[in-house]
Amino acid sequence: MALKKIVILFSGRGSNMQSIIEKLHGKSVEVAAAITNNPNAKGIEIARGLGVHVDILPHTEYASREEFDAALVAKIREYSPEITVLAGFMRILSTVFTDSIKAINIHPSLLPLFKGKDGIQESFISGMDKGGVTVHFVTSEMDGGEIVLQESVPILSGDTLESFAQRVHATEHELYPKAILKVLAI
Ligand code: GRF
Repeated sequence: MALKKIVILFSGRGSNMQSIIEKLHGKSVEVAAAITNNPNAKGIEIARGLGVHVDILPHTEYASREEFDAALVAKIREYSPEITVLAGFMRILSTVFTDSIKAINIHPSLLPLFKGKDGIQESFISGMDKGGVTVHFVTSEMDGGEIVLQESVPILSGDTLESFAQRVHATEHELYPKAILKVLAI
């Protein structure tokens, strides 16, 4: 049976992308391409090293958010993926993107708690005994779409922000591949 195609969008370190490629690529899923808006992203070499084609689309070359989003949509459509996977893609997306592309995102908190870029730190100082990881569909509301999978991560008495963050990331790396398989019904 043909592998189901996905495209991954990333901006930086790419550790979630790496985990997805290592766990799924060439098995149940084909990572048709990874696309980044950041020409200096560390993830570029990681993806290429794992045999995945990378497209670099610097957002600075476009006059507006909407023009960049339109170019991104056009690039994604070249690959006809069943789903687009945002893995640390640090751009706010306009409706040019969200109205045209079926996508999921990973966020390091128990959404709807602690949306935005400081999800781990806000969870850690919240006074709660746990934080977590959420994979959700992408809509025009940031970190607001329907939840695909969610897993909590305990905040332990001896934890520092760093030790907690490390467990959050380890949980992300397990949860995201599972969420992709769930969305693709594999
Ligand atoms: C992850 O914590 C993810 O939840 C958030 O951005 C971070 C990306 O890390 N959206 P990486 O680039 O996958 O290592």
